[in-house]
Amino acid sequence: MTTGTTTLARSRDELAAALVGQDLTPTRGRPHRRAVVMTMGALHAGHLSLVEQARELADHVVVTIFVNPLQFAPTEDLARYPRDLDADLGLLTGPGLLGPDDVVFAPDVAVMYPGGDPVVRVTAGAIDEVLEGAVRPGHLDGVLTVVLKLLHLTRPDVALFGRKDAQQLAAVRRMVRDLEVPVEVVGAPLVRDDDGLALSSRNAYLSPSQRADALALSAALRAGVAAADEGPDAVRAAARGELVGLDVDYVALVDPDTFAEVPDDHAGEALLLLAARVGSTRLIDNTALVLGAHRREERS
Ligand code: PAJ
Repeated sequence: MTTGTTTLARSRDELAAALVGQDLTPTRGRPHRRAVVMTMGALHAGHLSLVEQARELADHVVVTIFVNPLQFAPTEDLARYPRDLDADLGLLTGPGLLGPDDVVFAPDVAVMYPGGDPVVRVTAGAIDEVLEGAVRPGHLDGVLTVVLKLLHLTRPDVALFGRKDAQQLAAVRRMVRDLEVPVEVVGAPLVRDDDGLALSSRNAYLSPSQRADALALSAALRAGVAAADEGPDAVRAAARGELVGLDVDYVALVDPDTFAEVPDDHAGEALLLLAARVGSTRLIDNTALVLGAHRREERS
């Protein structure tokens, strides 16, 4: 099926046919590149920024839309996760986004998992033991399993993931490295609303007053960044101070490569990551910061 001019593939056969239709033969000595942006739909400007970046990096773009049951625990929001394919297609075919050579792959569960839940899965190993993995056991395994399947089905040269889900991005990078997956992984900047709230499909669950409460997350990141010269403890305390009254899953200050908590005397780059519940909605946010730059200058 074709929406406007972009092909919508619902089955594996339709996807395969659409990919064959994409011309990857070299022109002027340069092979055509294919980029993939994987999503669970309920698209917002954060997702669309990934598509825009994909457009710049490649000649053909594939966007996947699939709410992956494998990455939701039985107690989580799989059933109520927002789904609106028509609205998503409308957004994706907006100006400057998908065109005639691009593809949206929106399979249902029976297409992605024809034999039921997969027996053999990817495990995120130690990455799944901290932060998101510790609070949502098995979540990153479910993400990596579907990401690897979608990479095999779409065969991209480059795959884009948002820094909004920093641990997911790190896990995907590690999988690609450890399992020799032939794809370039690109991390894309986190997109926020004007008031600072990180864009998320789950923001749709928030009432107006909960949305106001949710601003504490981005305020906590700003407070953490402002305390960066005073060292890791001060950063964590400043962030926690803004989250009083929320149900906090974690405030973590980690090494961006290993996701291990940074030691007290750490100077240099770090990631400040937060997860908290506003009502029954779980939100995550993060920022990169440079620790102790000031203190280091004083010492040198
Ligand atoms: P989803 O939450 O729909 O996000 C799809 C992609 O959009 C992810 O790479 C995510 O990091 C990125 N994204 C979401 N909000 C963003 C924001 N505010 N700024 C920048 N990027 C943002 O993440 C998933 O789906 C799934 O786990 C998936 C990778 C599709 C596997 O099922």
